[in-house]
Amino acid sequence: MEKEIVVIDCDPGIDDAYALLYALADKNLDVRLVSTVSGNVNVDVNTKNAQRIVKMANKNIPIVKGATRPLVKAAHYAEHVHGKNGMNNYIYKNDEMAELLEISVLKAYYQVISKAEKPVIIAAIGPLTNIAKLLLTYPDIKNKIKYLTIMGGGLKGGNTTIAAEFNFYADPEAAKIVLESGLPIIMAGLDVTEKTIVSQKLLEDLKALNPIGEFLYDILDPKSSYMQIDKGSLHDVVALMAINNLDIFSFENLDVYVETNEGLTRGMSVADRRMNSKNGKVKVLVDVDIKRFNQELINKIKSYK
Ligand code: BDR
Ligand code: CA
Repeated sequence: MEKEIVVIDCDPGIDDAYALLYALADKNLDVRLVSTVSGNVNVDVNTKNAQRIVKMANKNIPIVKGATRPLVKAAHYAEHVHGKNGMNNYIYKNDEMAELLEISVLKAYYQVISKAEKPVIIAAIGPLTNIAKLLLTYPDIKNKIKYLTIMGGGLKGGNTTIAAEFNFYADPEAAKIVLESGLPIIMAGLDVTEKTIVSQKLLEDLKALNPIGEFLYDILDPKSSYMQIDKGSLHDVVALMAINNLDIFSFENLDVYVETNEGLTRGMSVADRRMNSKNGKVKVLVDVDIKRFNQELINKIKSYK
């Protein structure tokens, strides 16, 4: 399998931590940049989490801090789900952090993507603020993007409001720009991600593997609010796993639109499912083989010492 070049935009975030540690263990993913964005918690807080996680994985990957707020409205956080520090109030065992780049997120993206020897996959698992700004600021970059794989939206309804999923609700204007960019997209929305509910067995299996597995257990222990409120789905992992394991999922090819108007449906994702409209640009994941999903996660986490 040829290695894919990937950049990851995230807001860690419990399931972001799972997704990062999963992706960084995949030898077929060449992760060239990790960026952060205002999302689950304030971007200063989630950037520190990203730095700690990359260090834990013992990887030398540049990290860059991204948008401090959404494009239009004030920031909307999910501290009640992820804890004040974004990690279920986990206390880190040491102060080790990977280094932070001193340049802007857009420059970092432009440099990494334009210098890459082949088109790059952008994996976006937080609000889409950075990615929307990138596409607006450097439209030529589109030629070097193979596709985007995003955790966001859901055709079945929301988890933050009746209609909207958290990442799309947090920055609907950005989600609209990205979804309507014409770029090929894999959309790991709630239709599939809510099917990746964490079992007690999965948690115990992870814990038994190694210190990284213990960390993953601790940030998502069965008593955490994440498990209560969100029923503990591993949303963000889906977007990363789909890159090299699309056969674990089933999908529909649809065009997806995002509502930005005020009211009940702000941030809602809507797909055209009328007759003759099923050849859209977005691969909307709708189902998962949960046994294979869990096994694939375990296999990757097992590779840490
Ligand atoms: C998404 O929202 C965040 O809370 C999670 O990290 C995930 O990216 C799920 O709706
Ligand atoms: Ca996230």
